[in-house]
Amino acid sequence: MEKTIAWIEKDKCNGFSRMIDQTVIPYEYKKIDIKTSSEMYDAIKTMVVRGAPAIGIAGAHGVVLSAIENIQSDDFFGDVKKQADFINSSRPTAVNLAWAIKRQLDLMEKNKHLSNREITELLIKNAVKMEDEDIEINKKIGEFGSAIVPKGATILTHCNAGALATVGWGTALGVVRSAYMKDKTIKVFADETRPRQQGARLTTYELIRDNIDTTLITDGMGAYFMKKGMVDVVITGADRIALNGDSANKIGTYMLAIAANYHNIPFYIAAPKSTIDPKIKSGDEIVIELRDKSEVTIINDKPICDERVNIVNPGFDVTPGSLIKGIITEYGIFKPDEIYKLFE
Ligand code: MRU
Repeated sequence: MEKTIAWIEKDKCNGFSRMIDQTVIPYEYKKIDIKTSSEMYDAIKTMVVRGAPAIGIAGAHGVVLSAIENIQSDDFFGDVKKQADFINSSRPTAVNLAWAIKRQLDLMEKNKHLSNREITELLIKNAVKMEDEDIEINKKIGEFGSAIVPKGATILTHCNAGALATVGWGTALGVVRSAYMKDKTIKVFADETRPRQQGARLTTYELIRDNIDTTLITDGMGAYFMKKGMVDVVITGADRIALNGDSANKIGTYMLAIAANYHNIPFYIAAPKSTIDPKIKSGDEIVIELRDKSEVTIINDKPICDERVNIVNPGFDVTPGSLIKGIITEYGIFKPDEIYKLFE
């Protein structure tokens, strides 16, 4: 499976991060090489790489790049940590970024008796291991999740929680893919997902290439199709899940969950354990990223409104656990109020 983001080794202690540039899909499919930790900050911030698990791996690569940059430093740990904190500040909502960076920093701490070079080699190995783990985890999520997809079902999804949002296979789209392997008659409604259109640009791009019957709808259409009985289940990814099951995902997810519950349609979240933040008890503690107003006001390089209008652009919202039927993880499907058990 081609990886969305992968470490390219030059030698045991050197290399760079190669990733699919997600800002140009579907017009172009190209990879770009990220060779410094500052470039990695920019790649995450500008969403060349996006999606919670994928930016986690980008963070892990960012720590490696910083280690390579500081290999001669007398304060190796301090310098790498400083740059790691900077990378971590690029996007605040998806906890996978902080999780992956911490995993790398913990590894450094545990091995501080080794030379800078040896530690850098360990960081590279660990980053590649995390890439491979991500694909395995998504396959497990897909396998568990496929059990809740009825035969011939139409699945509604929001944003892109596919191969492009991870190293490969995807979380919500991993469930779609695994379900499709068993039942070729399943269908997908993909929400456009304003303002950045990850659903239109990325989700349909992935699913059409897999020959999965996909209908693109705009964000306001979900409830209409639910009322008509044309949606059987809603499955989305998540960017951060609190211990009570409250789940942050792309803006618009909460509205979808309310509509699904109103129409008695099961609403599921598919996400790895690394998206659960054991430090927060409820969704109220999740920091919501505020993004640039141009994402709302400009389409195809042209303003779509009077420039004097007020704009506020939160990137995510939080769906209360009470609206979520189950959280599909690599360890099985949990009721939101039981997700804390993964940390016991
Ligand atoms: O702003 P993005 O594109 O990074 O937001 C991505 C999402 O909200 C995804 O649904 C979420 O990260 C899950 S990805 C497996």
